[in-house]
Amino acid sequence: MRPLILINFKAYPETAGTRASALAKLCERVARTANAAIAVAPSLPSLALVASSVNIPVFSQHCDAADAGAFTGHVTAAGLAASRIHGSLLNHAERPIPLRTLARAVQQCRKHRLTTVVCAPSLRSISAILSACTPDYIAYEPPALIGGSVSITTAKPGIITAAVQLLKKRRKGVRLLCGAGVKTRQDVQAALRLGAAGVLVASAVVKAKDPERALRALVAHHAPR
Ligand code: G3P
Repeated sequence: MRPLILINFKAYPETAGTRASALAKLCERVARTANAAIAVAPSLPSLALVASSVNIPVFSQHCDAADAGAFTGHVTAAGLAASRIHGSLLNHAERPIPLRTLARAVQQCRKHRLTTVVCAPSLRSISAILSACTPDYIAYEPPALIGGSVSITTAKPGIITAAVQLLKKRRKGVRLLCGAGVKTRQDVQAALRLGAAGVLVASAVVKAKDPERALRALVAHHAPR
């Protein structure tokens, strides 16, 4: 399986409105020409626009536990699936969800065949999440390194190995992504060597002067898996 490179657009102004679909198209072009598995997570207001503009997987940045119905302002798994969204990030450090709600949201996503990427800030949190639910991916992102200049793979390689071991022991089917400060292809390769199935990236691409160049530099020469 090719490593997953999931680009989180956050709510950065560089991704507002039609800029989101322009960036997603750029990601699609790089995915095609570099034969890389690139997915995007635009902010909620531009989700449907992006999903109708590209043929790469589009993730929501959040999903509520509510089912379809009278739930004003909620982001439902049913609604995401109906808009041809591939999956959802859940419990991002910038959008945390209480554990019990998270477990229900994961269930809703599963019911509607959405791929779930549950973010976790620590090993203890990964353990608690695995006790409550079984997502498709856990994305390990130490909050202190998010948006910074030092990659998780450089600052804390040991925690990635520890997380891989934890997933193997507790849930063999759950794959690990890691993120925070990932900027170079060396960072991506280090993540893969440490056992991750891919990376979650935001500022290195979204905030780059030349996002296409930044993304190409990230995906070049992946270690084969
Ligand atoms: O979801 C990805 C994100 O939190 C990491 O952000 O800017 O460190 O790549 P960044």
